[in-house]
This record gives sequence, structure tokens and C-alpha cells, in this order.
Amino acid sequence: MFRGRKLAGMRVLSVILWYKGAVRRGWLFVTGFINISQNKGSFQLRRLKIFDALPAYFGGKRKLVKEIFKLVPPASNAPVFADAFMGGGSVSLLAKAMGYKVLANDIAERSCIVGKALIENNRVKIAGEDINRLFVESSNDRFIQDKFSPQVFLSKHAAFLDNAMAVVRAMEDGPKKHLSLLLLIKMVFYLRPYSKFSSPNAFNIPMEQRQIESIKNRTYHASIKAALRPIPDILKDLVAAINAGIIDNAQENRVFRMDVREFLRQIKADVVYFDPPYAGTLAYEEEYNVLDQILTRQITIEKSEFSRKDGIIFLAEVFQSARHIPVWIISMGNAGGANNCFDELIEIIGQYKDVQAKRIKYKHMTGAASEEHKAKNEEYLILGRPK
Ligand SMILES: C[S@@+](CC[C@H](N)C(=O)[O-])C[C@H]1O[C@@H](n2cnc3c(N)ncnc32)[C@H](O)[C@@H]1O
Repeated sequence: MFRGRKLAGMRVLSVILWYKGAVRRGWLFVTGFINISQNKGSFQLRRLKIFDALPAYFGGKRKLVKEIFKLVPPASNAPVFADAFMGGGSVSLLAKAMGYKVLANDIAERSCIVGKALIENNRVKIAGEDINRLFVESSNDRFIQDKFSPQVFLSKHAAFLDNAMAVVRAMEDGPKKHLSLLLLIKMVFYLRPYSKFSSPNAFNIPMEQRQIESIKNRTYHASIKAALRPIPDILKDLVAAINAGIIDNAQENRVFRMDVREFLRQIKADVVYFDPPYAGTLAYEEEYNVLDQILTRQITIEKSEFSRKDGIIFLAEVFQSARHIPVWIISMGNAGGANNCFDELIEIIGQYKDVQAKRIKYKHMTGAASEEHKAKNEEYLILGRPK
């Protein structure tokens, strides 16, 4: 009896030791932990549950991560991974699951909240009582109801968000607050058709006026169903999704909110991934203006210089600031004519690194994009290694 218990104890201990070693060596890829299996020498990526925790971020790279991580040296050789433009966090979260120490950065509060909740936080989960707290009546200034309803949110959703934001603002800073804010960000995305903030009149106003039948566009059917669900049910599903993304990789991962050049000058890392806004395309500050106002209460949020038509010139400064980091991976899509910049980009990177580039057919996540648009989408992956 005693011997049996001793053996079981030793087995538990050896599993823990193996697990810690696996984390250090970046083996989590093949443990089934994040559901990736090896097939004929190449990684076959199935649906990653951890990604359900993230918001459906515009320009997010969930579908490209497999290609990106083929270029990244393993955590055993390159333990510190920097994500210079973190966005929705897909690349950072996968790097974390693979055992890298992650240093993630973005200029936007919306991204930092995701990072604090899922990249820095290794253990704290969000629970039923955290949902209940959001319904405790709290005095608020009706900011969302007055500014964004009915154009962007139905009045019942705007009233809930106003109350919940006031509750969360009053919470002590820490993982629970970040998780609650992430929950509200995910709620906002859930309530918007295709997680986008455009074409409000085609959906919200007829919904608010109880004229669902006048919404002719079939693409809105899923959103109608979503809008009719009770709020606590929606939150319960979102909480389960968030908790699936909370993993402990035994590292002190850090999240920063600063201009990318300042971030790069401050950090030490072995690999850095660059996914800047594409020059000449819709700016993040425009697409997420409503969300940014809800989170920061700042009315005018300055448009990133990387989104300008001549945004590429600012990338030269970024690469200059990253000279001390040995391996660079850059992704760049062809949207908005960015392919015209490709040669220029290779030339700039070539001043510092040995360059290899790859062109990949790529379908962005947005279900609202036309088939013609999706067919033309391409993404370039550039690898820069020490000369
Ligand atoms: C293409 S997205 C990154 C998407 C991300 N890789 C993902 O998978 O979700 C670009 C990000 O750059 C951020 N950004 C824009 N200007 C910036 C700056 N000057 N410094 C740091 N981040 C910036 C934007 O807020 C946006 O989240």
C-alpha cells in the first residue's frame, strides 16, 4: 500500500520535472497541450483552443502563426521572444505556449489589456463571481449610452457596458481587473457584426426599433441571434473561452505600452517579430475608435504614422532601433498596395541582416471581405539573420 503510494508520488514528481524541462525546451508544441501534431516533418496546425481567448483582432495572424514559427529558432536556442506590434496577441500567446519568455508591446490600450490578462498573467483565472460583479449597480456617466447607442450598440447592451465599465474601473489594479476588461472587450467584439464597427445603420437601428425583418442582408443573421441572447449567457461563454488561454509557461512574460522604437531600444531579446500596420490601409485608431474611446475616454486618438501612405519610411527607424536583436521576422501583407513597398523593405532590412523572403497566399479572418478580395490576399514573411 505504502509502496504503491510512493511509486505514484514518484511518477507525479517525474511528470512535473519532465513538464518543467519541456517548457524550457519549447516542447509544448508536441505534447498535445496546444493541439499541434507533427505530420511528415511539418507541423500540422489544428484549431488552437488558446486562441479563443483572444479578441477577433483586425489584421490578426492566427492563420499565419504556423508559417511564422517555422522561422523562429527553438526556445532552447533563443529563449526571449519579442512581439513589437502585439495587436490581438496571437503570436505572443503561441510564443508563450511554446515556452519562450515573451516581451510584448503595442501602443494601444486595447492590446495591452489583452497582454496583461493573457501574456503576463500565468495563473489567475476569471470566474462566475467576476461575471456577477459586473451587474452590481454602480453610478456611471452613461458615456456609451449617450455616445454610441443606438448607432453602435443596442440600448440594453450600452446600459450594461456603462455599468460594467464603472465597476471594473473601480477595481484594484491586477490580473482580475485585466481579465474583467478583456471580458468586456470580447463582449464589445461579440456584439458587433463580424467584430467590426462599420455599417451600423444596417444592423443596430432596425434591431433597436424591433424591425428585424427589415434587415435583408443574410450576413447579419448570426449577429441578430447573438444580440437576442441574454447577457449573462454570453458572458459565461466568453469567460470559458478566456480561461482556455490562461497558461503557465514558467516564465516572467512582460507587456509594454510604448512606441515601438522606444520598446526596442529598452529590451534584450533573441528574436523579434514585427507586424506593423500596413501603410496606406485603414488605421487601427480609426477601426477601433469606439473601443478606444470606451477604454481610454480620449476622444481624439492619433492615427499611427505606420498607417500613413508613406508609413514605410518610419519602419527604417524601427529596424535601426532593433539592430542589437539577432533574429528578425517581419510580416507584411499586400493590402493597400503594400506590395509596392516590398523591395524597399528588403533593401532597408538588408542594411542590417541577411535576408530571406517568402510569399504566402493568405485569407484574413474577416468573414465580411469579398471572395475576390480574399483570393488576392498575400502575405510576405521576411527572415533577417545576423550577417
Ligand atoms: C497588424 S497589428 C498587429 C497584429 C498582431 N500581430 C496580431 O496577430 O493580432 C499592428 C499593431 O500595431 C500597433 N501600433 C501602431 N503604431 C504603433 C507604434 N508606434 N508602436 C507600437 N505599436 C503600434 C497597433 O495598435 C496594432 O495593434
